[in-house]
Amino acid sequence: MSHIKFYYGEKFPLEMHKVRIVQKLNLIPIEQRLKAMQEAGNNTFLLKNRDVFMDMLTDSGVNAMSDKQLAAMMEADDSYAGSETFMKLQSKLTQIFGTTYFLPAHQGRACENILSQAFVTNGSFVPMNYHFTTTKSHITLNGGSVVELYMDEALHITSSHPFKGNMDLKKLEKFIAECGPEKISFVRMEAGTNLIGGQPFSLNNMRQVSEICKKHSIMLVLDASLLADNLYFIKTRESACQGMSIPEITKAIAAMADIIYFSARKLGCARGGGICTNREDVYIKLREYIPLYEGFLTYGGMSVREMEAMTVGMDETMDENMINQGPQFIEYMVEELRKKGVPVVTPGGGLGCHVDAMAFVDHIPQGQYPAGALAAALYIVSGVRGMERGTMSEQRDENGTETLSNMELLRLAMPRRVFTLSQVKYAVDRIGWLYENRKLVEGLTFAEEPKVLRFFFGRLKPVSDWQTRLVNKFRADFGDSL
Ligand code: F0G
Repeated sequence: MSHIKFYYGEKFPLEMHKVRIVQKLNLIPIEQRLKAMQEAGNNTFLLKNRDVFMDMLTDSGVNAMSDKQLAAMMEADDSYAGSETFMKLQSKLTQIFGTTYFLPAHQGRACENILSQAFVTNGSFVPMNYHFTTTKSHITLNGGSVVELYMDEALHITSSHPFKGNMDLKKLEKFIAECGPEKISFVRMEAGTNLIGGQPFSLNNMRQVSEICKKHSIMLVLDASLLADNLYFIKTRESACQGMSIPEITKAIAAMADIIYFSARKLGCARGGGICTNREDVYIKLREYIPLYEGFLTYGGMSVREMEAMTVGMDETMDENMINQGPQFIEYMVEELRKKGVPVVTPGGGLGCHVDAMAFVDHIPQGQYPAGALAAALYIVSGVRGMERGTMSEQRDENGTETLSNMELLRLAMPRRVFTLSQVKYAVDRIGWLYENRKLVEGLTFAEEPKVLRFFFGRLKPVSDWQTRLVNKFRADFGDSL
C-alpha cells in the first residue's frame, strides 16, 4: 500500500485483501440509539452489540482473520499434553523471535499475572515507557510500583514526534542511580504504547534501553501486544531501518529483550497469549505458574484452534502489506478529522484514532467525565461505539477524591481489516457534525459507581436533558436519515 502512488494526488489507504466472509450490520434510528444508551447507563461497555453499527471499542480479539487462519483451525490437534498444534506454534515463535522457550497463557494479562508473581516483590519498582491498566494492577497487587519514564513529548496531544513511545534514557539512568538496580524487578517496554494513543518506540531507543539494562544487570521485558503497529512505524519512520525487512526488525527487537510477552488477541489476530524467552533460568522459574493458573504447558488455557490461527497470524504479521492496514486507516481518519478542525492525537498511532475530549468539549468539567460524555454522544448520533480513556477510567483515591486523568481521550479503535473506507468516512462525517454541535454535549454523573474498575460496570446519567436536545438537532439537520 505504501508504495502505490495515485495519479490525481489524493492519498488514501488501499486494501491489500478482499472480503470473502461478511457479517450483516444494523444501523438503528437515533431515537432507538438514545434509548439503548440510556439502558446502558451511558457507558459504552454496557451496550449490546446488536445496537452498535461500528464497534470501535477495542481491537482486542476482534481483528479480521484470514482465509489461511480459518483453514488452519480445521486441522488442530486437540490433546491435553504434547499437542502437535503447540509444537507448530512454538517453532513459529522461535523462527520469528529467535527465542527457544514458549510458555502459553490464555491472554496478555495472564502473562502479566505470572511475570508479576515471579519477579515483583514488596517495595520493588518497575520502570516503563508507559503503564497499561492490567499491567499496573498486577504489579501493584504484588507490592511493586510502576515508574513511568516517558519522554515529555509523550503527553503532548499535538506533535510531529515519530516515536512518542520512547523511554527517556536520562530519566532511566537517574532512576537506577537513585534507587539501585537491586530494587528494580525489571524494566518494561511496551510496543505501540496503548494509553498515549498507540504511539511507537524506535529501534534505536529500544537498543539504548537494553544497553542500560545490561550494564546494570536488570532484565528487560517487552510487551509485544501492539508490536505489529510498532514494526510498521519503525520501518516507515526510522531512517536507519528502511533497508531492514519486517522479520529483521522483529529479530533485532526480540534479541534485546530477556522476556517477550503478548496478548494474541492483538498480535497475530487470534485469541490467546504467551511468554517467550531464551533464558533457561527464567523459563524454569515461570514454568510452574502455567499449570496453576492457565493450563498444561502445551495449551496454557488456549483452544488448540486459536493456537493454529495464531501460528498463521504470527507469520502474516511479518508481511508489511498486512500490518500497514491498521496504521494507514488510522492515519486517514486522523487526517480527515484534523482537516475538519476536530482535536485528535497526532501523529496518528496504531490501535485507533484518539479524539481529544478535553479540547472537543472544553466546557465540560473533568469531574463530569468529558470523554465519557463524548463517547455517549457519539454513539447516539452515529451508532459508533468508542471507549472512554480519561477520568472515568481512573479510580478515586482513599479519601474519595477524583483522580483527574492526564488526558481525556475518546478512543476509536480500528480493528484490523474489519471496516471499509466508506464506513470510516461515515464515522468522520458524524464526528465532524458532532464537533460543530459540541456545545449541546454536557456532562455525566455516576448513578451507580463500583469501587473497582468503575469504567467497566458503572452506570451514569446526564446532568441535564442535553441528549434529547442533541437528538432534536440531529433530526433538524438530517431529516429522516438514520
Ligand atoms: N498489554 C497491552 C499493551 C494491551 O493493550 C493489553 C490489552 C494487554 C497488555 C492485556 O492483554 O487483554 O489479552 O489480557 N488491551 C486491550 C485494549 C484490552 O482494549 O486495549 P489482554
